[in-house]
Amino acid sequence: MTLDEIARAMVAKGKGILAADESTGTIAKRLESIKVENTEANRQAYRDLLFTAAGGAKYVSGVILYEETLKQKALNGTPFPKLLQDQGILPGIKVDKGVKPLAGAADYPITEGLDGLRERFAEYAKLGAKFAKWRAVIKIINGTTSDAAIHANAHALARYAALSQEAGIVPIVEPEVLMDSDHSIEACEDVTGRTLRDVFAELASQNVRLEGIVLKPNMIVSGEKNARQAGIEEVAERTLRVLKRHVPAAVPGIAFLSGGQSEELATAHLNAMNRNPLPWGLTFSYGRALQHSALQAWGGKTENVARAQKTYLHRAKMNSLAGTGQYSAAAEKELAA
Ligand code: 13P
Repeated sequence: MTLDEIARAMVAKGKGILAADESTGTIAKRLESIKVENTEANRQAYRDLLFTAAGGAKYVSGVILYEETLKQKALNGTPFPKLLQDQGILPGIKVDKGVKPLAGAADYPITEGLDGLRERFAEYAKLGAKFAKWRAVIKIINGTTSDAAIHANAHALARYAALSQEAGIVPIVEPEVLMDSDHSIEACEDVTGRTLRDVFAELASQNVRLEGIVLKPNMIVSGEKNARQAGIEEVAERTLRVLKRHVPAAVPGIAFLSGGQSEELATAHLNAMNRNPLPWGLTFSYGRALQHSALQAWGGKTENVARAQKTYLHRAKMNSLAGTGQYSAAAEKELAA
């Protein structure tokens, strides 16, 4: 498959991406919430549960993996990338090395991982990775952010994206404006717009082919601790306004992160946006908003695997419906029935 074909398949109508690429440190927090020890065997059992859920490929076009998982085998002995490919699900790989404080503007994060990335891409391609992810993190402090931090992150995203395409791997370009603060929705809209403007300028200056990327942005939402929490229609309207201003129509698709939104709100927001005619595909690339209930249902117990898989498939189906604007409260109740 060419880059453009892979990118289009990732955002095919009614399909989205499962982000299961939590680093060993992040999955520790998720496992701790269900009182399960963070061992390689438990991480393998949990990912196995998600990736063997029968029929997942109806809703999920690709799965983002952490390096350990890309190199790991499923419980039946099949390497995870092959297990996914055999179902028609594209395996992807998180390639950034996480965030550090940006020297010169140390309240703000910069994502690291460019050194040696060309060589790592060659290895990931051999292991079967068809797409990659790099997450840049933009923080809002006192209602605004640092232009230096936006620019350093946009530059790194474009360098990563160019290296990814060079290796024949589709880059997911993820600039995440965090929602875990007290800022207004207006501040989120302003900072997201400034970020996307710089990201697309850097992608252009570094000759990244827009037909062969997927953008993974945040939605425009109120800061988690802000007193005014905007409703679903307002989130949809502001998010579409910013994206239409800054994302060229050559980009095949946009797959949102959930960023700390509840499962049902993340679905409802996506659904509201997909009721409009759009220049690009608009779908999900959720981590927490696809996994939260399934993780709780599992609780680390083998006897709960079937129920956890049913819970995951329900969430994936709801988001698939949201990808065509057909999600409803009635559909949401299906799981209980
Ligand atoms: P969340 O949907 O939990 O924000 O995770 C998506 C992701 O991949 C963040 O990098």
